[in-house]
Amino acid sequence: MPEADKYGDSEDLLGKWFAANPEKRKDIFLATKFGIKAIKTPPGNMMDSSPEYCRECIDRSLIRLGLPFVDLYYVHRLDKITPIEKTMRTMVELKNAGKIKYIGLSECSAESLRRAYAVHPVTCVQVEYSLLCTEIESPKRRLLEVARELEVAIVCYSPMANGFLTGTIRSRADVIKPGDLRGNVLPWLKEGNFEKNIVVLDQIAEIAKKNGVTLPQLSLAWLLAQGDDVFPIPGSSSIQRLDQNLQSFEVALSEEDELEMRRLAKGIVGGRFQELTGYAFGDTPALEL
Ligand SMILES: NC(=O)c1ccc[n+]([C@@H]2O[C@H](COP(=O)([O-])OP(=O)(O)OC[C@H]3O[C@@H](n4cnc5c(N)ncnc54)[C@H](OP(=O)(O)O)[C@@H]3O)[C@@H](O)[C@H]2O)c1
Repeated sequence: MPEADKYGDSEDLLGKWFAANPEKRKDIFLATKFGIKAIKTPPGNMMDSSPEYCRECIDRSLIRLGLPFVDLYYVHRLDKITPIEKTMRTMVELKNAGKIKYIGLSECSAESLRRAYAVHPVTCVQVEYSLLCTEIESPKRRLLEVARELEVAIVCYSPMANGFLTGTIRSRADVIKPGDLRGNVLPWLKEGNFEKNIVVLDQIAEIAKKNGVTLPQLSLAWLLAQGDDVFPIPGSSSIQRLDQNLQSFEVALSEEDELEMRRLAKGIVGGRFQELTGYAFGDTPALEL
């Protein structure tokens, strides 16, 4: 499932691949997103979920992909300016025009999901969900509860805590280097937190060992055990790791281990990075009639 208007040249690369393999399109469920604008000067991001930007982005994505439609189109972030009803109406316009088949949201609040759903059914919500990040379950957020009530699927991004839950990050130096700033950005990996969290991670890794699986497989199996409506999207630049991660479907996690993993994960310190951006569990102003 490739992504988004701010993900560099990924759509161009996919466009080349689809042009070379047109017969494969029917076997692929293709998703992309709009809503985060990459700004060059000063370097950064700007959120934009306006109807104009939505229309502009889908047309650009379809040209880059060389395709007439995508299966799933997400609103990557809500911009806090555009009432979600306006964004949804534009998504419905795209659907009616045959440019997209299904509508998804990302990083929205439970209330935003309800408001969006009142305009048109939402197929899924993409949200950070992993053993280390279970905020969607919290009584404060109630996103999982509301998604289940509306029968909206949960697509879990960063399902292995940006790589920390794979066990390959053994020191902060592993994640503070050119091209990798996770050690400076992610609260779990910051100095003081990292040293405590690695101890907890090693305890979780013992459960993987006991089950005869790798830590990445165990982490993904834990998410898969949360329900048939939960879909992790692990990222990897390696085909071997992708294959290894897919084997998580074969892991039969006991309820006892699932609970023990939750218990251990309570010892992790440092909150989620997205909270710091101001756009986590996004809300939008009311629609003025
Ligand atoms: N909606 C949103 O706002 C949002 C936000 C963040 C991310 N996402 C999406 O979520 C997806 C994944 O999230 P993510 O990449 O942030 O985090 P992730 O899947 O939790 O972790 C990815 C990291 O784990 C490593 N990894 C993967 N499999 C491994 C294995 N078997 N053994 C060892 N290391 C392994 C990868 O390294 P290698 O590449 O070296 O394998 C990479 O560094 C992506 O599609 C991303 O676009 C969405």
